[in-house]
Amino acid sequence: MGRCPACDEWDTLIEEAVVPVGSSPTPSGQTLAYADVDNLTFERIQTWNPEFDRVLGGGIVPGSVVLLGGEPGIGKSTLLLQIAEILSARGTRVLYVAGEESSKQIKMRGDRLLVEGSNLFISTETCIERVFEEADKIEPGALVVDSIQTVLSEGLQSAPGSIGQIRECALRFLNFSKQRHIPAFLIGHITKDGTLAGPKALEHIVDVVLYFEGDRYQNQKLVRAVKNRFGPANELGIFEMTSQGLKCVDNPSSLFLSERAENVSGSVVFCAMQGSRPVLVEMQALVSQTNYSTARRTATGVDPSRVSLLLAMLEKRVGFNLLGSDVYVNVAGGLSVAEPAADLPLVGAVVSSYRDLPVSPKTIVFGEVGLAGEIRAVSSAFTRIKEAIGMGFEHVVMPAGNLPLPEPVKGIEIVSVSNVEEFLEAVGL
Ligand code: TYD
Ligand code: MG
Repeated sequence: MGRCPACDEWDTLIEEAVVPVGSSPTPSGQTLAYADVDNLTFERIQTWNPEFDRVLGGGIVPGSVVLLGGEPGIGKSTLLLQIAEILSARGTRVLYVAGEESSKQIKMRGDRLLVEGSNLFISTETCIERVFEEADKIEPGALVVDSIQTVLSEGLQSAPGSIGQIRECALRFLNFSKQRHIPAFLIGHITKDGTLAGPKALEHIVDVVLYFEGDRYQNQKLVRAVKNRFGPANELGIFEMTSQGLKCVDNPSSLFLSERAENVSGSVVFCAMQGSRPVLVEMQALVSQTNYSTARRTATGVDPSRVSLLLAMLEKRVGFNLLGSDVYVNVAGGLSVAEPAADLPLVGAVVSSYRDLPVSPKTIVFGEVGLAGEIRAVSSAFTRIKEAIGMGFEHVVMPAGNLPLPEPVKGIEIVSVSNVEEFLEAVGL
């Protein structure tokens, strides 16, 4: 059956063999006292690509399976070919399983990326059983599968790319990588709305899940770790697509602020935490009279329901009338910020646009806003302030609850606020 009779979705049924209880040929596990379990020790393989090492939490862990997802054309094959080259140049044999492209196409990409590939092997095999046969011959120290949607197991009836095939193949690659203690990278295509069931269904199987964020037409490419069994989640790697592949971005804050128009209303600089790293971004808002019977609300890079909540708070607590206004909110540069600390700059940008008054371009803002208009403390205040100082900002407007700071800071004026009225006064709105 292609369609599930219960939920009416297509291609969600998974073929599984029925194994009678007690007939399992191999014992499936053993029980140990907690104290007798050995500690897991591993040495990370540094790629010396600082952004890639960062998203992985400090380098590649041998025996780990990394899923790299993203829209078609965003740069997945480029990134992993570059990483394969780094490993290959240092003597690791890398098997690159390319079900999507011919070896010649890969070589064409490799030429742009100045790949020498002294220990790189390309296989265009798509049948997983034969991929493992190849692997037995080559004995790779790392495996790249481009993409998991194109491999299939002969043991299953369903078509390649179906959920059953994807799951089965991913499990087999997982076993392969654990047994040989080598890292495996699986590429998975995701459509913009994330509907493609495939890679999402693998998230719980693999050790690390990385996703390319943003859209493929912008030059900066963001890779986020949404899950990491060996390191912190939510780390962000920031790259720029050049004619020679993905280059690491040294100073993300200056990149994200590079196209900022100063002294324009509706723009507030926010210091966001992306994993453990502070990044300055511009929060933009446009409030304009609506031409529709119901006003439009659009949010890019921030949660739309958070925007609605903050607009309702402004109406109720500060007496704004936004009913007849369209409100557009955008985080410049394609970054998405999910943390509550983005509330205050968002409110600032909306009010600035509403009143058509600019906020000083030398001010940065962060803080959570509660429903009563109170401003709440956020995490990592000190780290955010240091980034602002480093980038030459002169004022920081932040929650009073974050004071006192662990160390005194010099070179920036700190204005602490505890409710929205105080905040608006502090930024001159
Ligand atoms: P690709 O890595 O093939 O995307 P994916 O595997 O995610 O589908 O390529 C992404 C885009 O990057 C493609 O449109 C071409 C472009 N590109 C460059 O701009 N510079 C380069 O050096 C390379 C290799 C690709
Ligand atoms: Mg590709």
